[in-house]
Amino acid sequence: MYNVIMDCDPGHDDAIALLLASRADNIRILGVTTVAGNSTLENVTRNARRVLDYAGVTDVDVYAGANKPLMRELYRLTGAIIHGEDGLGGPEIPEAVTPVRPEHAVEFIIRTLRECPEKVVLVPTGPLTNIAMVLTQAPDVKEKIERIVIMGGAIYDPGNVTSAAEFNIYQDPEAARIVFQSGCDIYLNTLDISMKAVFYEEDKERIRAKGGRIPTFVAELLDFFGATHVEHFGFFACPIHDALCVGVLIDENLVTWEHTYVDVSVAEELTRGETVADLWNVTGHAPNCHIARTVNRERFVEMITEHMGRSYVSKGRP
Ligand code: BDR
Ligand code: CA
Repeated sequence: MYNVIMDCDPGHDDAIALLLASRADNIRILGVTTVAGNSTLENVTRNARRVLDYAGVTDVDVYAGANKPLMRELYRLTGAIIHGEDGLGGPEIPEAVTPVRPEHAVEFIIRTLRECPEKVVLVPTGPLTNIAMVLTQAPDVKEKIERIVIMGGAIYDPGNVTSAAEFNIYQDPEAARIVFQSGCDIYLNTLDISMKAVFYEEDKERIRAKGGRIPTFVAELLDFFGATHVEHFGFFACPIHDALCVGVLIDENLVTWEHTYVDVSVAEELTRGETVADLWNVTGHAPNCHIARTVNRERFVEMITEHMGRSYVSKGRP
């Protein structure tokens, strides 16, 4: 059983990542933390809470974190285009009934890592601001982190904000750099694989055909998310980037990895947020990151489709 903290900015694919984690047999969600990214902190926190309530996950608390990147202003354009103004365009779901917790996300993560009797996996699927704050404010907690499974970066293929940079890393490159240099065991699901693990129209319709509350909700999320991808990127398929971070915990054969050294460009516009990997081992740096190399798309589609038909079962406390 993995003890997991989901650090996210929902976001259509973040929402599906939350749903997948909540339905996985081997994942216990200790808490959900939010970070400004796809939309404002207020919007993404509202979205996290109402998705969890809608999915019956009322015993998992939500904590709001950083409302902007460490050293920059929040970049709003791509998030609004792809996810809508409130971060979760498309399906209409009710407001949450369960309140957001008053504790700051960073304090919650530090406290949980210190108190948990077992190691914890961090799953950041938004900008890395909260995680960088945790690692700088409380370096002692590193020993309690089993691994950090990140959605971010583009190494072999181009980025989606600029040709150098992927959205999450572009938003807060300084934070990403702190995380990559932290010495933690890092797994990086990049655009290189998430753009290959896409959902086609027929995959979406298979989910919808299952019927019921969650499959219908997911299909409606994909209707909106797919349409904005067509409009913005001319891309006729839907990449559920963030859910891959959960997928690799459910099925260790979903993705293959390459262990290498990765650093992040904190330069201004041209290469801002570029994840630069030492693929030929020319720098002499020891590897600090497992970068995703291949993904089994069919397995991923099957996993999401099957899990969305399940009900939520609480895993209790470790
Ligand atoms: C990432 O950016 C966000 O828009 C998505 O939620 C995902 O985390 C993909 O680049
Ligand atoms: Ca995200």
